Amino acid sequence: MEYNVAIVGATGLVGQEFIKILAQRNFPMKSIRLLASDRSAGRKLWVNQQEIEVGETTPDSFEGIDIALFSAGSEISRHYAPLAAKSGAVVIDNSAAWRMEPSVPLVVPEVNPEDIEWHSGIIANPNCSTIQMVVALYPLHKVNPIKRIVVSTYQSVSGTGVAAIEELNVQSKQVLEGQNTIPHVYPHQIAFNVLPEIDVFLDDGYTREEWKMEEETKKIMHAGEIAMSATCVRVPVLIGHSEAVWAEFSSPMMPDDVERVFAGAPGVKILDDNAISLYPHAWMAAGTDEVFVGRIRRDTSHPNGLVMWVVADNLRKGAALNAVQIAEEMVKRDWLKPSEVAK
Ligand code: A2P
Repeated sequence: MEYNVAIVGATGLVGQEFIKILAQRNFPMKSIRLLASDRSAGRKLWVNQQEIEVGETTPDSFEGIDIALFSAGSEISRHYAPLAAKSGAVVIDNSAAWRMEPSVPLVVPEVNPEDIEWHSGIIANPNCSTIQMVVALYPLHKVNPIKRIVVSTYQSVSGTGVAAIEELNVQSKQVLEGQNTIPHVYPHQIAFNVLPEIDVFLDDGYTREEWKMEEETKKIMHAGEIAMSATCVRVPVLIGHSEAVWAEFSSPMMPDDVERVFAGAPGVKILDDNAISLYPHAWMAAGTDEVFVGRIRRDTSHPNGLVMWVVADNLRKGAALNAVQIAEEMVKRDWLKPSEVAK
């Protein structure tokens, strides 16, 4: 069976990854419709060695579409995802708009693929930082339930979008040339700097990104009892999010146990040899599909604690790849019925 696919936000960073990953993984596509804002209408993008014209996203854009992959921000998703679902498409939405809706499954295929089944037209793709953390923690949680997580993230600018990449590039050049910088995308200069602010601040002093990590982790892992505290930090890295994760288990978790558990776990790969400085880092993770884990060691501050360093490509596993894997899972389990409307 083949499917009619639409991409909303096709000109964006994640949209471009959707196009690449669908081709790389030979997703069974009958047709592809590229959608963005009116600014991009008429622009042509390459899909599988074929030039395809981008259309403006309108309420009629989803007629005959089986799967609509959205990555154009929360506002667009809030408006168009219900319209797409109403016209018969299954929406896989990369924005934060629907993630915490009780009627919308929030899915990481390595963790909770069975949640896909109860969707009613919209499936949410989690936050990039959450995805890579749960891919690493869930297999451990299954054998030794986690009680508490403390995480510090080091998130690349591509998570913000095209304009942020441009801002880092321009500012880096300006700093090296001794010029002043003027921040537009972030509240302060991001080049040669580190900013502990991602998304808006909430009343309790955390940011919405930190809140998202906590709430999304509990929803995906079906583990509302886990205590969690996150600090999310933007760093001047183009692609690849890194995380220092402290997890407290129900009983001691040894680094050797982690190796054994990860050997049978999907999507996660250990890179850990201090003698040769082998550990994952953002530069090597960019363009790859795995969640990499290194610096695995016991937490000296708690008998049941474990510390590790988790890195992944935020545009791929943290966004587009996870969404395509959700679509693949639906195809595999025969939960996706192609539209009758031929394209
Ligand atoms: P456009 O290029 O036409 O502005 P990124 O986050 O990487 O910057 O990408 C954002 C994506 O969201 C782009 O594809 C952008 O399209 C798309 N987008 C922005 N505004 C709209 C809109 N009003 N309708 C549909 N897509 C939109």
